[in-house]
Amino acid sequence: MAKPKVFVTRIIPDEGLAMVQHATDAEIWPGELPPPYEVLLEKVRGRDAVLTLLTDKVDVGMMDAAGPSLKVISQMAVGYDNIDVAAATARRLPVGYTPGVLTETTADFAWTLLMAAARRVVEGDAYTRQGRWKTWGPTLLMGPDVNGATLGIVGLGRIGTAMARRAAGFDMCVLYYDPDRHPAQEQALGVKYADFETLLSQSDFVTLHTPLNGQTRHLVGAAQLRLMKRSAILINTARGPLVDPEALYQALKGGVIAYGALDVTEPEPIEMTSPLLTLPNLIIVPHIASASLQTRNKMATMAVANLLAGLQGERLPFCVNPQVYG
Ligand code: GLV
Repeated sequence: MAKPKVFVTRIIPDEGLAMVQHATDAEIWPGELPPPYEVLLEKVRGRDAVLTLLTDKVDVGMMDAAGPSLKVISQMAVGYDNIDVAAATARRLPVGYTPGVLTETTADFAWTLLMAAARRVVEGDAYTRQGRWKTWGPTLLMGPDVNGATLGIVGLGRIGTAMARRAAGFDMCVLYYDPDRHPAQEQALGVKYADFETLLSQSDFVTLHTPLNGQTRHLVGAAQLRLMKRSAILINTARGPLVDPEALYQALKGGVIAYGALDVTEPEPIEMTSPLLTLPNLIIVPHIASASLQTRNKMATMAVANLLAGLQGERLPFCVNPQVYG
């Protein structure tokens, strides 16, 4: 029997790649960059399934281009703001994603950024390599303590909760803001609910762990940055457009807040002409929070498992839109 026809939009980690190549007739896009949208439209035509990444635009045009043979869209990511889920649901197309497996790894990395920003690790490395380290300096590269400080977590979902657990080990006072209160977690983790404005004004570190949608785009803009402490550090490992980049630039340049650390930017990749790149008090890395060897392999195998379930007409183990089964 002919194997199902699948398009995979990039080379994924080995285990998942081997699984999809074994079970399907898969074309894997070989480029380092994602297929351009027009190419994606050609490549999905007549496929039974598509394995996508957060860099692909999965919209009505793409679903129409794939046509009626398409049975499942499986994304190798926990976020899916690049996918028009409503359009997929209207076509009764299940959309898979990879929640849970990247929680700890992403929180590890958000914590890494928090520590690196506070203790000026990137600046210290540059200082050393530039030959500027002449002696032990009593005031050299000082930064705020993490231990004992107040951490503000925006979004107490899986990754936000994992951050609260890490903060407990550093004797931090933890505030969280979330559209929904979580009384059980407040008890279990010793975290306190605060409205968004209070969290911003009382936290030494603010870390974002909320999905990108119509309500959260530019959640942190000039007005919100002005509420923060002048000594505050902002960490974003969620989605770039949660933060207004122009407002962040002005705030970091003008001392409205002290420091930033971004794993995600708007746009991605950041443009090399972005003034953010001129700031010494900002760390920027290329969207790698989930990039541990183990986690990226798990994400790939989970995405393939979702894809294969969809091809067999089974319920996806991790489905964004389970309404398609209603
Ligand atoms: C990464 O950002 C993801 O959504 O998995």
